[in-house]
Amino acid sequence: MKKLIAGNWKMNGSLAANEALIKALRAGVGTPACDVAVCPPGAYLAQVQGLLAGQDAIALGAQNVSQHDNGAYTGDVSATMLKELGVRYAIVGHSERRLHQAENDVHVAIKAQRALAAGITPIVCIGESLAEREQGMTEFIVKRQLSAVIHLLEQRVGDIVVAYEPIWAIGTGKTATPEQAQAVHAVLRAQLQAATDKAQEVRILYGGSMNAANAADLLAQPDINGGLIGGASLKADDFLAIVAAAR
Ligand code: 13P
Repeated sequence: MKKLIAGNWKMNGSLAANEALIKALRAGVGTPACDVAVCPPGAYLAQVQGLLAGQDAIALGAQNVSQHDNGAYTGDVSATMLKELGVRYAIVGHSERRLHQAENDVHVAIKAQRALAAGITPIVCIGESLAEREQGMTEFIVKRQLSAVIHLLEQRVGDIVVAYEPIWAIGTGKTATPEQAQAVHAVLRAQLQAATDKAQEVRILYGGSMNAANAADLLAQPDINGGLIGGASLKADDFLAIVAAAR
């Protein structure tokens, strides 16, 4: 299956920085062997949509989507609005939102459902904390997080992207080893297999300090089908090197 490399810019960027980054990505991306997406902050989606116009190597993604439909939800942005801006992917349930915005498994599942209903592919993030890993709870945690999504989406879970992002590896420079990541990805694949005929087509991304130096080894694992890149996605050369490693 075609891998997916998605850049999660988090709350970074400016009009000028976004323009420079997209220009550099467009100039260097060529015809990638994988699917590529960038997920700028919501305030810049329209700008980045414009900067990406006229090419199809790089798709647009959002970092979040409302769990509600349109209406009286101050500050929220609906899936239909994102769709209008040309958004193809929406990250849901990132650990930073689970932590700072108190998103729980049910919110995340509903967000995934809203995205799918609007024709946007949700990138559902799951992952354990360091304390949970040390207590031997990794499998329990990630299966619980994914099962909420499976429960709500049923067969349509075959249309999502999953991102395994161990919290202890995010922004820390401490990457999971390829073997550690593969072990969790295999658990998730088996869980998907029990839920949908399309489990083999679901891309399971790894995220957490993925960079130009470690991407190839991670992406060589049988159940690692791409990456969700934070810090390294803000530097064109680094992001393009990861894209080149995904074949
Ligand atoms: P870093 O690549 O900066 O560790 O971030 C990973 C991440 O959270 C992507 O969503």
